[in-house]
Amino acid sequence: MNQGREETLNSPLKGKRHMSFPNIKEVCVVGAGNMGHQIGLCCALAGCTVRCTDVDRQTLAQAEKFADSYLGGRVSKGKLNADAAKSVRDRISFTPEIETAALKADIVIEAIIENLVVKKRLFAELDRVCPEHCILATNSSYIVSSKIAPATGRPEKVCNLHFFNPALVMRLVEVVQGPHTSEETVQSVFAFACKINKTPIILKKEIYGFVVNRILKAIIDEALHLHDIGVADYHDIDTAVVNALGHPMGPFKLLDLVGVDLQYHVCMERYQDTGDPLDMPSPLLVEKFVRKEWGRKNGVGFYSYDD
Ligand code: CAA
Repeated sequence: MNQGREETLNSPLKGKRHMSFPNIKEVCVVGAGNMGHQIGLCCALAGCTVRCTDVDRQTLAQAEKFADSYLGGRVSKGKLNADAAKSVRDRISFTPEIETAALKADIVIEAIIENLVVKKRLFAELDRVCPEHCILATNSSYIVSSKIAPATGRPEKVCNLHFFNPALVMRLVEVVQGPHTSEETVQSVFAFACKINKTPIILKKEIYGFVVNRILKAIIDEALHLHDIGVADYHDIDTAVVNALGHPMGPFKLLDLVGVDLQYHVCMERYQDTGDPLDMPSPLLVEKFVRKEWGRKNGVGFYSYDD
């Protein structure tokens, strides 16, 4: 899908065709939840060998079940033939052992909980178990890799590679270069993103929320504020955004898709960093979080989901 992208866009690969970027074939995805299970499939669909791992066996089992049903669905829809679907399925495996998942990896994509302490602990472990050449990328949308890289002995090989939800559908990925990230790592990750049929953009420096989530946060914060001060119901705010701005879904439906819990944790992390009361989660978000109405993943958020 992205064939020729390197030639046509203003990419860092332009004019560097003579340089050899490590060919990323073996992928390890750590965290098989909301994002990780689909990121793994994107890579397997593009021909990579993928090993997914998660500390939670139920999450891992659900990810494996999703891979079977998704690939089955692609065959039924006529989007993939049965042999191709089988090859993709053969290329993706699920294991609770991180050492097994990371042993041969050319790149690790971490997609675990948005918590800096937990991420630093994981990256220190990945640094121990991954091959020396392996790139360590975090899918984190808000935690910049310069906070994580010092936990490893290879900071030049650490960056953010940020996917969007649903990762199988959304084309954009953000490749974020920290001050510690080498040019070669950025170029390799950019080339890898093209290989897995994504449309990468490069952020030349770290900034909280990157490009997309900064814009999205402004929309979501305003939507929550309008609801909290009693201006309009969330259904109506969604209706307004879909029908006036042409977004595929309104901000509350989107919160259900990305996860109310994720948004809550992101706000809390930010608040702990800045101490600014404006960064605290809105009352409605707190209420939904406490009631465990986290969205599609557990069947109820702002809306209800049967399946
Ligand atoms: N997982 C995988 N595939 C999905 C899917 C899901 N959850 N939902 C829909 N799809 C696929 C369908 O299978 C279908 O694929 P094909 O056409 O190839 O058969 C395609 O998407 C269209 O699906 P539908 O016709 O059922 O539904 P739709 O046209 O309403 O599209 C949508 C659904 C793609 C989710 C669309 O509503 C959309 O683009 N919504 C906005 C999503 C968005 O803004 N994402 C960014 C979130 S922000 C973020 O991710 C930040 C972060 O840091 C986490």
